[in-house]
Amino acid sequence: MPQLEKLSFYQQRVDDFLSKQLADLAINDQRLFDAMSYGLLIGGKRMRPYLVYVTGDMLQVPLTDLDPIAAAIECIHAYSLLHDDLPAMDDDDLRRGNLTCHKKFDDATAILAGDSLQTLAFEILSNYPFKSIDAKIQLKLIAMLSKSSGYLGMCGGQAMDLAATDKQVSLEHLQTIHKLKTGALLQAAILMPALCRAELAAEILIGLENFAAQIGLAYQVHDDIIDITSSEETLGKPANSDVEAGKSTYPALLGLEGAMEKEQQLFKQALHALASLPYNTQQLSHFSTFIIKRAH
Ligand code: IPE
Ligand code: IPE
Ligand code: MG
Ligand code: MG
Ligand code: MG
Repeated sequence: MPQLEKLSFYQQRVDDFLSKQLADLAINDQRLFDAMSYGLLIGGKRMRPYLVYVTGDMLQVPLTDLDPIAAAIECIHAYSLLHDDLPAMDDDDLRRGNLTCHKKFDDATAILAGDSLQTLAFEILSNYPFKSIDAKIQLKLIAMLSKSSGYLGMCGGQAMDLAATDKQVSLEHLQTIHKLKTGALLQAAILMPALCRAELAAEILIGLENFAAQIGLAYQVHDDIIDITSSEETLGKPANSDVEAGKSTYPALLGLEGAMEKEQQLFKQALHALASLPYNTQQLSHFSTFIIKRAH
């Protein structure tokens, strides 16, 4: 299957799975349900699910065991965006080409929709009848997603991002922020499928971890770059929002050229890590090219 077809195949697959998860919920509060659907199902590139599927495919994890992993990570990601856009955080009005959830609904509903999507992720992972892994590994998947999402992962990074606003931080500190706020979940998208193959050799795991670390950081460096170089129409979210908000970003610290050089460096290191793996890594290398070329 050619690359683009594969991308849309996996996007459709995770969307179907997510829609089913929501459809299976008994309606409790219609407004909250609508806000959850809005934040989860409308738009979004589904890059984390895509990474789960292509990594899992490479490692020969059954497709049906990848669905709940892809879906759970996307639920966490969607929740992180609902909260990221709130007035108390980045205060943005546009997301995925639409009004942000708190603008469409209200702040309280967006907060609760985020909370409910977060817990839905763990409901999916804990209830799913996996066929290739036992309960012990299932627990490890839950532990990995919890850590990647929480204080030592995305939330911790988001707190550091807010603390670094209107401040000059060191390159090393900025790297930590980006690795946590964005890198941690992308890393989980690669390492959770790997966890499903308990017998993987240590050097393979190290290669995957290296790849995940470079690509996780590159993803946010590129997000910082396109915030400046792309338009609101293309991005589906406000352009130039980082400068206006006084955010610490790679372009702010290194200049646009410097940030682009850094991205190229990360891209090369990512490909280098892939070369150490005894698999056909073509899809992962395509993914790496795509993320540093994407305009939105
Ligand atoms: C945006 O993520 C926020 C970051 C963590 C960089 P994406 O660029 O993957 O956003 P969607 O899911 O496609 O909207
Ligand atoms: C987002 O970083 C990181 C998250 C954990 C959501 P940004 O604040 O740069 O993401 P965008 O640009 O609003 O999508
Ligand atoms: Mg932010
Ligand atoms: Mg933001
Ligand atoms: Mg951004």
